[in-house]
Amino acid sequence: MTLLNVENLSVTLATSSGSAQAVRNLAFNLDIGEILGIAGESGSGKTMTALGLMRLLPHKGFATGSILFDGKNLLAESNKAYRDIRGNQISMIFQDPMTSLHPMIKIETQLTEHIRHHKKISQEAAHIRALELLNTVKIPDPASALEAMPKQFSGGMRQRIAIAVALACDPKLLIADEPTTALDVTVQAGILRLLDQLRREKNLAVMVITHDLGVLSSLTDRIMIMYAGSEVESGLTSDILKNPRHPYTKGLISALPTSDLSGKTLKTIEGMPPELGKIPSGCAFHPRCSYSRDPCALEIPQAVQISAKHRIFCPVNPLVNS
Ligand SMILES: Nc1ncnc2c1ncn2[C@@H]1O[C@H](COP(=O)(O)OP(=O)(O)O)[C@@H](O)[C@H]1O
Ligand SMILES: [Mg+2]
Repeated sequence: MTLLNVENLSVTLATSSGSAQAVRNLAFNLDIGEILGIAGESGSGKTMTALGLMRLLPHKGFATGSILFDGKNLLAESNKAYRDIRGNQISMIFQDPMTSLHPMIKIETQLTEHIRHHKKISQEAAHIRALELLNTVKIPDPASALEAMPKQFSGGMRQRIAIAVALACDPKLLIADEPTTALDVTVQAGILRLLDQLRREKNLAVMVITHDLGVLSSLTDRIMIMYAGSEVESGLTSDILKNPRHPYTKGLISALPTSDLSGKTLKTIEGMPPELGKIPSGCAFHPRCSYSRDPCALEIPQAVQISAKHRIFCPVNPLVNS
């Protein structure tokens, strides 16, 4: 069952040289209980996509298009109605868990205030719910943890507490923006396992945003790859990782560290993603693409369907038959 249906989403931001589109004509779906990964180099518009959904864009930023969530068009909701949706039905966690936690306020107060802001329940019921939430995110000794301050916890534990805050009102959708980027590899795996467990136990839909495709390999059902604000390829995780068709996706995958110790140096994609306001014409990737031909600078790529759930946006489409 579809929970989220995004069509034609564009996000416009104010820059020093005028307004520019950080997200361009994005379209994607998310089912109940599904995990979608959104990947791409830094600056590709992943965070602005998430902030557009959350209606938390920077000053003077705005989103256009259609975001249908659980049957409601989110962009048409009033600010007041949206305040109830945000944190209640859609929650977000960030790379730095301290974005959602106050350093000097007891965990119990932060959790119970959040719960009671959205739900009319007693302090005692909120306390029980807070204990339950810390249990869900596997914080050892939840009763003592409630008495502590965020600064007393490690980065991984803080991220678990931020997830507990995000889950406080049983949201249907959790957006996780680079949730493990600031953590050690071993701690990363635990957070990813927790997200997977939440999907299975609570039927939670999760959008995991990362610049590191490796993070998504064992977690997501589907992946969408973004470049310069647009989708370049999307499909089932196994199709994207084993059979990438867009030259940009191929580049990202060949830059992933492999487990073999052949000593081969990693291939990175030459050049840099474009700055906002300086996005190349046609296919935005064409100046960095080794397959680039004449049409690439002129034609805005249209979707080419490779299979039912796999598509690429590439005017030359060089890898379709590879
Ligand atoms: N507050 C802002 N004002 C203007 N431009 C911004 C702002 N935040 C991000 N950008 C620009 O918007 C584009 C998309 O950024 P972002 O969504 O943060 O990328 P990602 O999350 O994929 O790294 C980038 O070019 C970035 O420099
Ligand atoms: Mg980001």
